[in-house]
Amino acid sequence: MPERFFITGTDTGVGKTVVSALLCAALDAIYWKPIQTGTREGTDRKTVMELAQLPRARTLPETYRFAPPVSPHLAARRAGVRIALRRIRMPRIAARESLIVEGAGGALVPINESQLMTDLMRHLKLPVLLVARTALGTINHTLLSLAALRAARLSVRGVIMVGKPNRENQKAIERYGDISVVGTVSWLKKIDPKLLLKTFNENFDRKAFHL
Ligand SMILES: Nc1ncnc2c1ncn2[C@@H]1O[C@H](COP(=O)(O)OP(=O)(O)OP(=O)(O)O)[C@@H](O)[C@H]1O
Ligand SMILES: [Mg+2]
Repeated sequence: MPERFFITGTDTGVGKTVVSALLCAALDAIYWKPIQTGTREGTDRKTVMELAQLPRARTLPETYRFAPPVSPHLAARRAGVRIALRRIRMPRIAARESLIVEGAGGALVPINESQLMTDLMRHLKLPVLLVARTALGTINHTLLSLAALRAARLSVRGVIMVGKPNRENQKAIERYGDISVVGTVSWLKKIDPKLLLKTFNENFDRKAFHL
């Protein structure tokens, strides 16, 4: 059964792209990042191709790309562009294909003068996976993000925690967030598809992905 998710995070730099690469490897999914800022420092599409060794054809082109590494609403404004949800269409891929869509930053990042990343998630009608750090501060950031996602009436499939394992933080997120941590990714040294698959097989709840 194909699995399709929108990957958001509690912050920028939490590990959304690494988790996306892992899920592309594990689910044999296609990768798409509709809004990419900071292209002058590289793109997440290229990083996922490298980390998961995906051929370019298993990734989709961004709808919006901006050079400066700032929030999408600001990058677009500086480029004299307005990000419009109607231009970000679900890609026409075969029904049997799994798809991983990566957001930019976190749930409440603005994309234009009146809409947020949560509006993009609703527009694409995808269940959400929330990537969070394991480190101190994560309980607050994760519960706030869950509250924002639920207030936007999004379906949150689970949380994925990245970093040095922290059982207590995981338990607190599950309890106070009323959510399952469906996967954990420790700090990986040299990321390659074999290590990503091993991490998925050992540290992810396969049932949450219908495997
Ligand atoms: N489990 C991990 N092991 C080793 N390095 C990691 C891991 N997770 C993330 N990193 C590194 O941390 C940095 C930030 O991770 P990543 O790019 O995945 O974050 P992001 O949430 O996608 O950021 P953005 O908001 O820019 O899209 C990268 O250099 C990445 O290689
Ligand atoms: Mg990323």
